[in-house]
Amino acid sequence: MCGIVGYIGSKSVVGILTEGLRKLEYRGYDSSGIAINADNEIKIYKAEGKLQNLVDLLQGHVKETQSAKAGIGHIRWATHGAPTEVNAHPHTCSCGKLVIVHNGIIENFKELKEDLIKQGCVFRSQTDTETVAHLIAQEYNKTKDLTQAVRLATKKIQGAYALGVMHQDFPNVLVATKRNAPLLIGVGEGEFFIASDVPAIIEHTKKALYLNDDEIITLTNEKMTLIDGDNKELNPKIEILPWEPVALSKMGFKHFMLKEIHEQPDVIRNILSGKLYNTDEPISLKEVQLTKETLKNLNRIQIIACGTSMHAAMVGKYLIEDFCGIAVDVEASSEYIYRKTVTDKNTLVIGVSQSGETADTITAIKQSKAKGSHVLIITNRPDSTMAREADSLVPINAGIEVSVAATKSYIAQLISFYLLALYMAEVKGSLDNATLTEIKKELVVLPQKVEMILAHKEQIQKCAKIFSTTKDFIYIARGINFATALEGALKLKEISYINATGYPAGELKHGPIAMLDETMPVLSILMHGKVYEKILSNAEEAKARNAKMIALTNSDDKKLEELFDFIIKVPEVNEILSPVIAMIPLQLLAYYIAEFLGKDVDQPRNLAKSVTVE
Ligand code: M6R
Repeated sequence: MCGIVGYIGSKSVVGILTEGLRKLEYRGYDSSGIAINADNEIKIYKAEGKLQNLVDLLQGHVKETQSAKAGIGHIRWATHGAPTEVNAHPHTCSCGKLVIVHNGIIENFKELKEDLIKQGCVFRSQTDTETVAHLIAQEYNKTKDLTQAVRLATKKIQGAYALGVMHQDFPNVLVATKRNAPLLIGVGEGEFFIASDVPAIIEHTKKALYLNDDEIITLTNEKMTLIDGDNKELNPKIEILPWEPVALSKMGFKHFMLKEIHEQPDVIRNILSGKLYNTDEPISLKEVQLTKETLKNLNRIQIIACGTSMHAAMVGKYLIEDFCGIAVDVEASSEYIYRKTVTDKNTLVIGVSQSGETADTITAIKQSKAKGSHVLIITNRPDSTMAREADSLVPINAGIEVSVAATKSYIAQLISFYLLALYMAEVKGSLDNATLTEIKKELVVLPQKVEMILAHKEQIQKCAKIFSTTKDFIYIARGINFATALEGALKLKEISYINATGYPAGELKHGPIAMLDETMPVLSILMHGKVYEKILSNAEEAKARNAKMIALTNSDDKKLEELFDFIIKVPEVNEILSPVIAMIPLQLLAYYIAEFLGKDVDQPRNLAKSVTVE
């Protein structure tokens, strides 16, 4: 979480910083700030709330800021200390001459802070970050060398950080470093940038250098100097970013979320193209290095992910077990990393992440790699930390997802799992040709079916209006769609703040049924297939407790009209592919309820798009 941007060069810095921060708003949006070198003096501007508040504040300071050509900026997602102006970055040391911006968490900040206070440091904020400013200033007072001060101070820090540092004594120097948090350096003509992510700099340059952990870079507008944590000078390896500047536009939609939901038919087409050429030919996954031999020796698969990506992983488990007969576990990365995992060279570990930068998942895959497991990453960011750690990669090609609530990236992850499971089944020879061809044929026609749902969205709008005042919501499903129930509930929680829970339908009677009465809507995901009749029986049980009944179904059965108060109809689909078809109306339902309630759909409270802290 949190976004960092920095610039040093010959252009006016304020616009570069605020525009860069705008591109990083997905990383947090509870406060923001910049520090600039204006006429050899460090000036700081901060504002609580959305970035626009900082932009408005700066409008009143144009005269004193326009000459500035170097600076650092930050957009915050609060971890330590409330999202107030005083806790907004940049933070300074006691004398105010040294300024820093930070993304990450300093785990030993309490001990460090106690010690620094004893030594006379004056703290102004509740943040862990301020500790780092004081630590660097202490080292600077001894060495009078900003780079060395950063190097020596960061040796005392435990945790994760990406840092941008400036000092009044050298107002034309930027120093940056990182550990377990992303940071890249943009290289322009007579100018350099620092950024937490590519979109903040791609308009300015395509040449960049990804910092490795503990490396420290010192930038002036003429040169950059890179050292490692042991003070050894390194040769910067500049790469060309495989990105084009993208104008982030809502294309006439009211919110990015709605636009991204509508992009899903094309997202599916994009992933399939180049991987599924012809339904009679094998799936082609160029960046997957799983040989028949590796697959034969696999004793298990572990899929690790967080949030929405974990729900995609649950569908993935179902598919791989069904198609390949290999045992698969799915686990939240945050749980996986704090127990003794049974993982070895015969375990395939699959990390799933839209951003490729989720801290818990990165830690989990690093742990598995250290134990010798083959690590396969499914991500929307082939340039991310996770992708760079991967032995095998499945890029999901969903395009930039701006809305914090994941939609198109979820559908893209599902499609990637279909392709991966089919690919593995083909390599392993575990599915007969007729089944393989049938599933492939169904995959190819999925985009049209999604388009049909989008074309009939009024039914979902109507449903949203009826149920928008509810305080709680229950989603039930079985089998491959249990994950859909969880994901549908998560979408609703995230953007409307309604208490929504997904249950396996058979579990209802083991406890949750106690909550049912006429105030509780129960949405049943009722798709033709193995568990259709079973879910129908579970829905009857809920109806008998007077719950308000909603069906999401591909069935035309007239009997459903007696059982359900509201029916959302979707196209017929093979049960194995139904998680894609069932999810689209649930995304729309969450969207329209939140929109009806007037919520901040694209930037819901307390959330951030990329969770780069554990
Ligand atoms: O970037 P990742 O897929 O690793 O992110 C994982 C979760 O933080 C993410 O899916 C989160 O749950 C979204 N807000 C879901 O809408």
